[in-house]
Amino acid sequence: MIRGVTLVGSGSATPCQRVSNDQLGLRVETNDAWIKSRTGIRVRRVVGPEESLADLAKQAGLSAIHMAGWDPESIDLVLLATSTPDDLFGSAPKVQAKLGANRAVAFDLTAACSGFLFALVTAAQFLRSGAMQRVLVIGADQLSRWVDWDDRRSCVLFGDGAGAVALQATSSDIDGLIGFCLKSDGARGDCLNLPQLVEHMPLVDGTTYQRGGFSPIQMNGQEVYKFAVREVPSILEQLLRTQNIEAGQLDWLLLHQANQRILDGVANRFNIPTSKVLSNLADYGNTSAATIPLMLDEAVRDGRVKSGDLIASSGFGAGLSWGAALFRWHGPN
Ligand code: UT7
Repeated sequence: MIRGVTLVGSGSATPCQRVSNDQLGLRVETNDAWIKSRTGIRVRRVVGPEESLADLAKQAGLSAIHMAGWDPESIDLVLLATSTPDDLFGSAPKVQAKLGANRAVAFDLTAACSGFLFALVTAAQFLRSGAMQRVLVIGADQLSRWVDWDDRRSCVLFGDGAGAVALQATSSDIDGLIGFCLKSDGARGDCLNLPQLVEHMPLVDGTTYQRGGFSPIQMNGQEVYKFAVREVPSILEQLLRTQNIEAGQLDWLLLHQANQRILDGVANRFNIPTSKVLSNLADYGNTSAATIPLMLDEAVRDGRVKSGDLIASSGFGAGLSWGAALFRWHGPN
């Protein structure tokens, strides 16, 4: 029997260190007016010496679990969407241990800024199939460790953070994940990379090995911008059409927080008023896989998003990858 999925808890966590636009202007040739007008960002958070990605993910996960009223031992899967793990072998098991989710299996999922949405949809498959009852989906990234802090064209955009959602299997008549659509196009991936640092080192007897390592983020901002303003409206349109839902029926538009101009452009395309477009970009910048659950949690906790609200969400970024999901926030029972 195909079953339903409900979103019953949310949580988030951000690092303590704040870096303002003016402060960035002390390092690279930029200024508050340029960054605010071109991106909408005022300040971003950066992981400091006493913090880690796993700790942020744990805090976000714990608050989602608390909201849901779950015992950590009751969780079947901890799915961590991240492109910046503390350990390349995966950080999810570390987070699982920190949460005390001792029964759960845990693994990472990498899809850059689309990671949370891809993880949400992946988690839903385990619940729908009946294989699992409770999944904690966490989106967490620490892009600050891979940003070129001397490249003003990219460093002003990014920040660190984590967000989480508690997903519960239900009967199919109260299904909260109404529809989704996911896409990738590796042929266009060169405009946003965190590429391998290619270094061939001598091994033995004339053989070599490639030493591990990565170069900082490389981005062609204009190309990524064009990709986002073309593909995000298109995938949302496709999703709404497939589900037979009008843009006017949406309570909220919850997009990956990359640039306020992208958010405004997409909202305009669907005639969605600014009051229905969730944005906290000014305070956090682009936190990659964390933006969507970080924004959702803020809006749930301040009472904007209410039980039953219909939300259209879209994530997009490196890969290239992009996706959209239509869901209803349920909240704790
Ligand atoms: O999850 C996805 C992650 N990536 C994105 O979302 C990136 C999407 N792209 C964007 O958000 C925008 O393309 C940016 C915000 C990155 C750049 O905005 P833009 O309006 O496309 O600016 P631009 O690249 O066309 O640059 C305009 C000017 C250039 O100067 P000239 O050549 O016209 O003299 C840049 O050198 O602005 C200059 N510029 C800056 N000036 C001050 C570029 N970065 C900065 C800066 N401060 N930080």
